[in-house]
Amino acid sequence: MTYHSEPHDFTDKRAGYERLAAQLRGLLAGEADPIANAANTTALIFDALPQVSWAGFYFLRGGELIVGPFQGKPACVRIALGHGVCGTAAAKRETLIVPDVNAFAGHIACDSASRSEVVVPLIAAGRVVGVLDLDSAQLARFDAVDARGLERLADLFLQASRLEELR
Ligand code: SME
Repeated sequence: MTYHSEPHDFTDKRAGYERLAAQLRGLLAGEADPIANAANTTALIFDALPQVSWAGFYFLRGGELIVGPFQGKPACVRIALGHGVCGTAAAKRETLIVPDVNAFAGHIACDSASRSEVVVPLIAAGRVVGVLDLDSAQLARFDAVDARGLERLADLFLQASRLEELR
């Protein structure tokens, strides 16, 4: 693992995500344990991204999403597929950007301060293995640049990790 904490700059969001991807690659290098990698991935994201109140993984185990490593306040443990933003993103297999969580029917309010959310499904070998979920206390915090940047980070996590150990 090679990681040197440095100030993160997201003035240019695309460039910020480029640097973050390079840092994550270094952070995960030589390690394949999925829990360790998920923990470090969320720590990096939470440390780097401004205005993020929660960042974490849910893994699909026994047919439901179960909370994994995260940063932020304690969260709901189990989410059924098709429920909430997380379960919907996993069921639809697409990244969901929710500018206003109160306008999303079925949103699961873990943290009452959360105003907006983005959820990236984790797909490996055609199978959904979980989601990467970020919350913000700011309305419309996440846009398409965030979605693409986070998809890239999720992909680096998937490539680096022995996912079969999550089952
Ligand atoms: N809001 C999510 C639940 C998970 S928390 O935000 C950590 C949802 O609706 O699926």
